[in-house]
Amino acid sequence: LPSHYTLPSGDKIPSVALGVWQAGSGEVGTAVKTALDAGYRHIDGAWIYRNEEEVGQALKEASVPRSDIWLTSKLWNTFHAPEDVEPALDESLTKLGTDYLDLYIIHWPVAFKKATTNIDEQLTADPYPTWQKLEEMVAKGKVKNIGVSNFNIPRLKNLTANPLKIQPAVNQVELNFFNPQPELLKYCKENNLLLEAYSPLGSTQQVGATLKRPEVVEIAKDLGITPAQVIISWHVQRGTIVLPKSVTPSRIEENLQIFELPKASFDKLEEAATSHPPQRVINPSKAWGLKFDVFDDYP
Ligand code: A2P
Repeated sequence: LPSHYTLPSGDKIPSVALGVWQAGSGEVGTAVKTALDAGYRHIDGAWIYRNEEEVGQALKEASVPRSDIWLTSKLWNTFHAPEDVEPALDESLTKLGTDYLDLYIIHWPVAFKKATTNIDEQLTADPYPTWQKLEEMVAKGKVKNIGVSNFNIPRLKNLTANPLKIQPAVNQVELNFFNPQPELLKYCKENNLLLEAYSPLGSTQQVGATLKRPEVVEIAKDLGITPAQVIISWHVQRGTIVLPKSVTPSRIEENLQIFELPKASFDKLEEAATSHPPQRVINPSKAWGLKFDVFDDYP
């Protein structure tokens, strides 16, 4: 299985990252150090995870050079106004203790008005002004690659219908056994857009059920690997980047070891994952009081 994918910029992004969403203070730094020691070279974070300072401190204390590490952060919803993008990015850079990001992503296709959780309808309907600012950040050398997150196909089409200087390199979305999104995967492959799988094990809510699925357990037994390794390998074999989160040293180590599944096993897992109605774990539409579901068809 590929250890890296090549982005349109020519940069090589490691296929497995440590995800640090929900990695709490006092544990995330150790997780990052454990991951780097285990051989991870890709850390997926975000401003809103509120742990960038501790991640930065761990990166500083680790003996791996910055240039060997792929670092991703994400622009939060309150900073979509073009004049707010660079200060938000600068804050993440400062906290992380670096002068560039390998990848900067629009976290949600939802813009909030400054310092509120009230939706900015214009910038939500049209993310192009925000995107142009991200393009400027690439020109300035503050970020190497730019992408989006939580965009469905209509929202991707809405953004890419503009005369972009730089196409989104990735779309980071929820992908797991219970929400495998085959149509989005197909669309992104056809459009040279790499998907990144967040909550790849089903997040805290579904990881137990996922790793106990009979198909997963059977394949794990056949290959002599763990159920988590089966799922993480399946993601990479589907052609996506995978961002498992763990703060447990043995799991962090386990999750980096991926194995090519025999075709029959891969097909069986794909069939099992796609033959039931999808169940999404993450959907903040209600919590944010949106009048629409962020994953519904749009516009
Ligand atoms: P923990 O961080 O306590 O080790 P996801 O990556 O889909 O968001 O899932 C994260 C959840 O899965 C966390 O609860 C994490 O627990 C757990 N987890 C991560 N890796 C493994 C593993 N190899 N085996 C079992 N559970 C895991």
